[in-house]
Amino acid sequence: MLELGTYPLERIAERVGTPFWLYDGDAMRRTVDSFARLVGTGSAAAAGRVAGGTAGGRVAGGVASGRVAGGGLAGRYAMKANAARPVLDLVRHAGLWLDATSGNEVLRARRAGFPGGVDPPVIMLTSDVYRDNALDVVLRERVMPNVGSPGMIEELRRAGYLGPIGVRVNPGFGHGAVESCDTGGPSSKHGIWPDALELVRAAAHEAKLSIVTLHAHIGTGPELPEFSTNLRRLMEFFAALLPAFPQVHTVNLGGGIPHPYRLDEPAYDLSDFRPLLDEAVGRLSRTAGRPIRVEIEPGRFLVAGSAVLVTRVHEVKVTRRNEKGEGHAFVMVDAGFCDLVRPAMYGSYHHMDVVGRGATHAAEPCVVAGPLCESGDVFTRSEQEFLEPRMLPRPEPRDLLVLQDAGAYGTVMSSNYLSMGRAPEVWWEGGSARLVSRRERLEDIVARECDEAI
Ligand code: LLP
Repeated sequence: MLELGTYPLERIAERVGTPFWLYDGDAMRRTVDSFARLVGTGSAAAAGRVAGGTAGGRVAGGVASGRVAGGGLAGRYAMKANAARPVLDLVRHAGLWLDATSGNEVLRARRAGFPGGVDPPVIMLTSDVYRDNALDVVLRERVMPNVGSPGMIEELRRAGYLGPIGVRVNPGFGHGAVESCDTGGPSSKHGIWPDALELVRAAAHEAKLSIVTLHAHIGTGPELPEFSTNLRRLMEFFAALLPAFPQVHTVNLGGGIPHPYRLDEPAYDLSDFRPLLDEAVGRLSRTAGRPIRVEIEPGRFLVAGSAVLVTRVHEVKVTRRNEKGEGHAFVMVDAGFCDLVRPAMYGSYHHMDVVGRGATHAAEPCVVAGPLCESGDVFTRSEQEFLEPRMLPRPEPRDLLVLQDAGAYGTVMSSNYLSMGRAPEVWWEGGSARLVSRRERLEDIVARECDEAI
């Protein structure tokens, strides 16, 4: 969570309007660097022979300069969490690799200076379906595909891909904060169910593709300890699979490092993670009888806490109790689920702060709602309840209301519903602010309109 007194929020709001996203680049760098250190040089010694002087998962000086022979640790950033250019720059400077999901994400990574190629596989493309330019991008940029279904191997073969691949497995267990984010188990569409792996092996052999990576992403559960418990279970799961995959040199345990969204939630201590990862490298390398590199690919952990969504309060209006239920105080702000969809989509919690004259008022139950033409355009919801009023000082009109921990799955999931136009992004670093993406204008929204015979 950001300390809001640090930033001249009103001055920035006057310059770029509201709502806007504010990133603290210094805070994000600290988090990204702590993760890079976790998977950095020291850990490569745990089981690794890392050739060419490059530590597993780190690209020296931000440029790929060596060949990772196997073993050790590697860290990827799951860029789906936030693909803003300064975020990618920061991740690249820290020497981390990337997990991309679409052809365009790969191209954004390439524009940000991440190298293509599979040796080392700095960018991995993990997709469920090859949409649009994804296969072309795999061929052109030579990034490593991580397949999520048996048919994707055939698609790669038909496209003429010849190279290493990863295989994403659905281990049958896993977690998500809500069911729609659950990434492992019979209700998850992700990856390949273990009994289809034999088929996948045969298809890969036929297509002359070598399976070099086994991958699973089991997500974050509601309780902190579940993360470690699940990872340990995943390690055992892969240990049992490895003998059947003689070319595998990497096991990727996915992302899902928890982020505390609530004030009273404990933060995940990265130092707890390191022994677990070293244990995984040792256990998997011993079982395989060769060095196995262990990769992890968090998104949220690296970016969630370093950004906020700043909105302007327009007014507070009330409904009264009647036969349908209680009345509420609605704090009407100018951001909606077109900006931050997580509360409306998953009932996610984001801490809120009032900045301005109302900040000193006594707290009372408030519903915070946005400008969209939908009753569901409400930021104060829970997974179970449509409305979950929040104890907040009742803001005055023109105050700012700030939603914290908005750096992950914020801008990337925003839309221009109602032709609202996506909100601008402001990057704060070293005591000054830069506009790094401007507000979407009508011209941007209609730019794709055309009238062509087909
Ligand atoms: N790797 C894979 C293959 C993934 O699918 C994901 C997230 C990650 C890594 C990163 O997971 P993280 O460390 O960020 O938890 N939109 C939802 C989250 C969906 C996550 C999808 N996959 C949200 O707003 O919470």
